[in-house]
Amino acid sequence: MLSSKLLKSLTAGVLVVGLGVTLAYAAADDQIKARQTEMKANGKAMGALAAIMKGEAPYDAAVVKASLDAMAAADAAAGEAKAWDASSMEGATIETWAKPEIWAEGSQVGAKYQAWVDARTALAATTDEAGFKAAFPALGASCGGCHEMYRKPKG
Ligand code: HEC
Repeated sequence: MLSSKLLKSLTAGVLVVGLGVTLAYAAADDQIKARQTEMKANGKAMGALAAIMKGEAPYDAAVVKASLDAMAAADAAAGEAKAWDASSMEGATIETWAKPEIWAEGSQVGAKYQAWVDARTALAATTDEAGFKAAFPALGASCGGCHEMYRKPKG
């Protein structure tokens, strides 16, 4: 028979393990929030760039630079918040639209991420409207390329 002392320590052990899981999920909530904040910033920056592409806003090198800087800053902040670590696959109270395949073996997410970085770099190197318009589609495609594989549709 289990002594009451052993029983107590076993129960305490279970509680500690349970608490560890809760803490991990709470951390995941913050990571997911950081990921979604990053993506909202991407969406906002993309809106300004797309308006130039569509001719709804005049070409403005300063707007292009500010938008690309905003994406780079969002990317860096997400990295600091570990927003893309496997520990952020599932939250406690926050819903995520990231597919678990991101973190599966053989995931292409690294290549999708790199395509986005490369497209940003190429667009940042442009100096006039013609260059901007030639380079912009690759940036849009890099967002879509990752979403297509790794983002669940909302709703
Ligand atoms: C490497 C993959 C990847 C790239 C590149 C990427 N996204 Fe995303 N995006 C995601 C994932 C995954 C989600 C879902 C995040 C979640 O719900 O946890 C997402 C979500 C979003 C959302 C919804 C955010 C929200 O919660 O409301 C927007 C807007 C968005 N992305 C815009 C963009 C734009 C614009 C670009 C390109 C400039 C881009 N993304 C590039 C993977 C990517």
